[in-house]
Amino acid sequence: MTPPMKRDPICGMTVNPATALHAERDGETHFFCGDDCLQQFLNATAASQRAGPCVIVIFGASGDLTKRKLLPALCNLVAGGLLSEDFAIIGVGRTEWSGNDFRQQMREAIAEFATQKMDPALWTNIEQRMRYCSGSYTDPETYQRLSTMLEESNAKQHTSGNALFYLSVPPISFAPIAQQLHASGLLKEVPPVWRRLVIEKPFGHDLASARELNATLSASLAESQIFRIDHYLLVFRLGNSMIEPVWNRTFIDHVEITAAESIGIEGRAAFYETAGAFRDMMQTHMLMLLALITMEPPASLSGEAVRNEKAKLLEAIRIPKPEDVMRDTVRGQYGPGEIAGKPIDGYAEEPGVSLGSTVETFAAAKLWIDNWRWAGVPFYLRTGKRLA
Ligand SMILES: NC(=O)c1ccc[n+]([C@@H]2O[C@H](COP(=O)([O-])OP(=O)(O)OC[C@H]3O[C@@H](n4cnc5c(N)ncnc54)[C@H](OP(=O)(O)O)[C@@H]3O)[C@@H](O)[C@H]2O)c1
Repeated sequence: MTPPMKRDPICGMTVNPATALHAERDGETHFFCGDDCLQQFLNATAASQRAGPCVIVIFGASGDLTKRKLLPALCNLVAGGLLSEDFAIIGVGRTEWSGNDFRQQMREAIAEFATQKMDPALWTNIEQRMRYCSGSYTDPETYQRLSTMLEESNAKQHTSGNALFYLSVPPISFAPIAQQLHASGLLKEVPPVWRRLVIEKPFGHDLASARELNATLSASLAESQIFRIDHYLLVFRLGNSMIEPVWNRTFIDHVEITAAESIGIEGRAAFYETAGAFRDMMQTHMLMLLALITMEPPASLSGEAVRNEKAKLLEAIRIPKPEDVMRDTVRGQYGPGEIAGKPIDGYAEEPGVSLGSTVETFAAAKLWIDNWRWAGVPFYLRTGKRLA
């Protein structure tokens, strides 16, 4: 059957959806007669979705995540017109860098990790808006200097007093930084000015520590100011009219989700020895992925609506009885071998791994979701390093 013709929203021409260029907006697919109309549509979409003025403050700015992911992502947002023209970036860290050192380090990082070719003029624009604040995360003076830099950014880059604090530091520093930000008054919102805190995973290392961290954060911030981030995930399912009608227990026998990494621990033994695959991947990325693909469609794509649906879904996961854990979970550790013809050390031989370590680099679990949509469908989650 031939699909009905569609109207190009820019020029009004009738187009064949089977062959036309297309783009998504708000869960709806739009079709275009050619590249010019598509580009006009994308530009208009970018302008309508552009964030307001703000300063992005990155704690742990000398770290791996900042250079590999955060800075390249910010550059992409600027290139795509999705960040306000009135933005600034402040890096914070114990590393004693000057502003120039920070800009130089980030320039090198962008050359290595940018996901698209960087226009030199664009980088110059970004670089001029970057500052660096050096100091201990527990020293109130660091926050006084940060406060001065926020005022400078406000005056020079017209950031309207808005600030987003991104904690790209090891979890041990989450609570002290939130407490110091609160004590120095930097989290205070006087509408329309907003202040937000973004926390990387892992959020605690077990239930008790996650609750403790939540309690500390709640003492310093309103829930609407806290963003618990997992930077790997995308929502692809919602609004897909092909998938949604069959996305339930009537049509699906079982679901397998596999995150097979080819890399090992990449020199991060100090972190990995305290985490393992269950804490590093399963209770974070894998459960979030599970929630995003199985939750009920939220009323809107607002943070709160999505969070509520994810929470409902997570609550519906059956908590295994102790006797089921041995049957329904698997742990393993990679040994020496070869990947793409290259010899690879086993986990036990990686620098920094303790002698006889039993930390798991592979984790698998079978889970059940006890709700109407998924009752009786087993979910198999698997993740591991040096698997692909
Ligand atoms: N890298 C990734 O792809 C990735 C993936 C998932 C999640 N994450 C999460 O994102 C956060 C940052 O990751 P990352 O890989 O960038 O971490 P990282 O490189 O180990 O640390 C980031 C920065 O934090 C500071 N830091 C290191 N150890 C510290 C300590 N013991 N106490 C206080 N500050 C310390 C260091 O900056 P200064 O010495 O200059 O203060 C360091 O440059 C972590 O919570 C991590 O779990 C990262």
